[in-house]
Amino acid sequence: MILLAQISDTHFDLTPRNADRVTTALGYLERLPRRPDAILVTGDLTDSGTVAQYDQARKVLSTDIPLHVLPGNHDDRANLCHGLLDIPVPDGPVNRAVEVGGLTVAMLDSTIPGSGGGALGEQTYAWLDRLLDRTPADGSVLIALHHPPVPMFSTVVDPIRLADPQRLEHTIAGDDRILGVLTGHMHAMGTTLFGGRPLVVAPSVASAIGGEWEVRTPGEVPIDYAPDPSVVLHAVEGHRLTTIVRTVPMGGRIAVQPC
Ligand SMILES: [Fe+2]
Ligand SMILES: [Fe+2]
Repeated sequence: MILLAQISDTHFDLTPRNADRVTTALGYLERLPRRPDAILVTGDLTDSGTVAQYDQARKVLSTDIPLHVLPGNHDDRANLCHGLLDIPVPDGPVNRAVEVGGLTVAMLDSTIPGSGGGALGEQTYAWLDRLLDRTPADGSVLIALHHPPVPMFSTVVDPIRLADPQRLEHTIAGDDRILGVLTGHMHAMGTTLFGGRPLVVAPSVASAIGGEWEVRTPGEVPIDYAPDPSVVLHAVEGHRLTTIVRTVPMGGRIAVQPC
C-alpha cells in the first residue's frame, strides 16, 4: 500500500497562525506509526507569492518525509521556483512528476499568472501526454493540480475553477492507469467524479470556505477561520484509491475517551 498525504492552501502570510497550523498538521503526519510515503501540497503555498512568504514556507515545510508542491493562483512561479523548489524558472508552467513507490503523481501547473482562475495550456497537455507515454502499461497515475475542473457549489471558487477541462477529462476517461484527480483551491473537502474517476478536493490548512448554501447575501464570502486544520490521506493499493480525511486538533491529541 502506498500512503500519500495531501495538504493544501497553506497560505503562508508571515503570521504565526498559518505557520502553526501547518506545523501541527506536519507533526501529526510525522508522528504516525505508519508514516506517509510522501506529502503533496496542492497549491496556494503562500498568500501573495512574496519572497519572504516562501522563506517562511521553506522553514515550516521542513520535514524528512518527501514533500512535493505545485503552484496555486496565490503563488508566484518565479519566487516558488527560487524560494522553495530550487529549480530554474521555466519558460511556462511548472509541471513536475514524482514517483512514490511505483505510483506516478503528475503535478500540473494550472495557474494563469495574474489571474485567480485556472487553465491548462498546450505545453501542459503535451507534457502530460509525454509522461503517460513513458509510464508502464500496468502503472498507476494520480493527477494533481490546484484548480478543481468542475463546479463544486462554491460561490467563491466556481467562478475561478479550471476553464475548458474537456481535454483533461478526455485524457482521464481514456486511460485506465489514471486512478483519480487531486486538487485544492476550494478550502473545503469535496468529492465527485471527473472522467469517470474520483476527483478529490482537499481542504485548506488555513481556513474553510462554505458552500453556496452558507451564503446569506449575494457576494458574501462564507470563510471560517475557526475549524481545526485537516489533512487528507490517500491509500493506493493496486488500482484502488481510498481517501480518508483527518482533522488535526490544534489543542493536541486526546487518546482516552473523556467520561
Ligand atoms: Fe487558497
Ligand atoms: Fe486557490
